[in-house]
Amino acid sequence: MTNSRVLILGGTEFVGRAVVDEALARGHDVTVLNRGTRAPRNDVTTLLGDRTAPGGLDALRDGAWDRVIDTWSWAPRVVAESAAFLADRADRYVYVSSRSVYAAARAGDDESVALAEASADDDSFDDYARAKAGGELGATAGFGDRAVLLRPGLILGPYENIGRLPWWLSRIARGGEVVAPGPVDAGMQYIDARDLAGFALEADVTGPVNTVSERDATTLDDVLRACIAVTGADATLRWFSPEELAAAGAEPWTQLPLWLPPGEDYESLQQGDVSRAMGAGLSIRPLQETVDDTWEWLKSIGGVAPQRPDRPVIGLPAETERRLLES
Ligand SMILES: NC(=O)c1ccc[n+]([C@@H]2O[C@H](COP(=O)([O-])OP(=O)(O)OC[C@H]3O[C@@H](n4cnc5c(N)ncnc54)[C@H](OP(=O)(O)O)[C@@H]3O)[C@@H](O)[C@H]2O)c1
Repeated sequence: MTNSRVLILGGTEFVGRAVVDEALARGHDVTVLNRGTRAPRNDVTTLLGDRTAPGGLDALRDGAWDRVIDTWSWAPRVVAESAAFLADRADRYVYVSSRSVYAAARAGDDESVALAEASADDDSFDDYARAKAGGELGATAGFGDRAVLLRPGLILGPYENIGRLPWWLSRIARGGEVVAPGPVDAGMQYIDARDLAGFALEADVTGPVNTVSERDATTLDDVLRACIAVTGADATLRWFSPEELAAAGAEPWTQLPLWLPPGEDYESLQQGDVSRAMGAGLSIRPLQETVDDTWEWLKSIGGVAPQRPDRPVIGLPAETERRLLES
């Protein structure tokens, strides 16, 4: 697909920004719609609108696009309205969903298992799984079998606005003994935002797609070692069992980002079947490149990662770390 017209709903923070950069690099004609809270770029057409406000899509009234890419993560109704508004003027609607939509996926499950209960006209977003599953319904209500529902798990790379890999990089850069959550050989699935962006722009696929790396191809140990390599820090990983971490009150995912102990959540988020994505050409760059580029970006912004205000604070409290390392 060359020189196609791409509309990105959002496009200025992390995944959306990566889609803009990849689209421009591939020669596409890029339009973004957002509220304009960041300075507009001069290499894209920026349209302004608040998608939650009446008339918020008015700026899109006249265009036509080959692909719409939507990174919305709040009330599903907003996705449904955008998809309905654009259904006659775009070929495909790519919604950046999440692996969190699954109600109870187990290791090896593909996209066909049951999803969280959701509704396309839901106006709330207090429950992330329901919000993303509702967003999928909204995209499909407008575009039917022309909707593409990307289900990434962990998304890493420069501009990450959750703060997971940035936290590990910052912690490891400080050196010394680092609490590493085991088991050391547990597989971890992830995707670089730039590879997700490339897939969103080019993949000839519709319907739901698990868009992360192959099961067990990467471990958290690989990630932490890549952090040590790029920072050049004098850091030593000290591995703790899930039981030791639970006893110390260390919270998975938020306090120890990227990590889930063995169990249902781990299987659902980090052991999914990705045959559909791989069959459609998903390719994920080497982990070290993702870690290196994230470190370069983090240094360039003074070492403090931005964190989305609507997501939990990331990182192990100093007191919990001290208790573990003194045990
Ligand atoms: N991070 C992960 O590990 C992970 C994992 C799985 C799935 N996901 C999904 O990946 C996506 C990540 O999105 P992102 O934040 O990186 O996307 P993004 O497109 O880079 O940033 C969000 C955009 O939404 C715009 N926006 C916010 N409120 C708006 C409104 N009321 N009207 C119009 N535009 C509005 C913002 O611009 P303005 O503020 O200027 O309006 C911004 O451009 C989410 O859907 C998330 O659920 C993430």
